[in-house]
Amino acid sequence: MAVGVFDSGLGGLTVLDAVAKRLPDLPLVYFGDNAHAPYGVRTSDDIYNLTVSATQKLFDNGCDLVILACNTASAAALKRMQENWVPEGKRVLGVFVPLIEALTERQWGDNTAPREVAVKHVALFATPATVASRAFQRELAFRAIGVDVEAQACGGVVDAIEEGDLILAEALVRSHVEALKRKMPRPDAAILGCTHYPLMEKVFADALGDGVQVFSQANLVAESLADYLQRHPEMVGPGMESKFLTTGDPARVSSHAIQFLHRPINFQKA
Ligand code: DGL
Repeated sequence: MAVGVFDSGLGGLTVLDAVAKRLPDLPLVYFGDNAHAPYGVRTSDDIYNLTVSATQKLFDNGCDLVILACNTASAAALKRMQENWVPEGKRVLGVFVPLIEALTERQWGDNTAPREVAVKHVALFATPATVASRAFQRELAFRAIGVDVEAQACGGVVDAIEEGDLILAEALVRSHVEALKRKMPRPDAAILGCTHYPLMEKVFADALGDGVQVFSQANLVAESLADYLQRHPEMVGPGMESKFLTTGDPARVSSHAIQFLHRPINFQKA
C-alpha cells in the first residue's frame, strides 16, 4: 500500500510530514539521495539519471506511485521521465503543479485558458538548476497572464541545511532575499520553490516583510495527493511498510532528519 517520496536529501521530509498528517494510514517510503545532494548545482542529465535510479528503488520497494518531493528533479527530470521512462502501471508526480494551481486560484484539472489572477509580482526562490530550467514560468504561463516573475537562485542554502548549519542557512536566505528585492522591491507573493526551504520559512517571511504572501509546498502537495488517490485508488502500491532509505550515511542522515520531523527516525542504507 505504499507511496514513494523522493528528494535529493532531507527537504522532501517537509512534504512527507504533511502527507503523513493528511493521510495517516498511508505507508510512505522515503528515499533521500543524500550521497549526491545537492542536485541544484548539477546538470540536467545528471539530475535525470540520479532521479531515475532513485525512483526505480522506490518502485522496487513496493511503490507504484512516486512523488518527486524535489523541485529540482521535478523541473529538470520529470517531463523527460514521463515521456521516456516511467514503466506501464507506474506513476511519477512532481511538486510544481499543486503550488502553481494554488497561486493561480485553480482547481485540479482546470485546463481553461490562462487568465488574470490576483498576484502580479511573484518572487521565486529556488535552486540554481530549478531557476535555470524556467519550468516554473512555463507552468505558470499555461494558467495565468500578466504575472511578473523574478527568480532568485539561492546558492548554498540546501548545502547548509543538509549540513545542519541553520545559522549559515539563515544568513544566506537573508542575502538572497535582499538580492531579490533589489530586482523586485515589492513582490506581492513569494514562492518557496525548494522543499528544503520550509525549514527557513520564518526567515524568508521576516526578510520579505509584511504584505508578501509566502507560498510553501508541503500542505498543498499533501492535499493534492489525497485528491489524486481518491481518484486513482489503484495507484497505492503493494508495499505495506513505511521506511526511510538514504544513499548517505544512515546514522548521520537520521540525526539531521530530526530538525525536519521533530521526532527520531531511522534511515536505512538504500
Ligand atoms: N529539495 C530540493 C528541491 O526542492 C533540493 C535540491 C538540491 O538538492 O539542490 O529543489
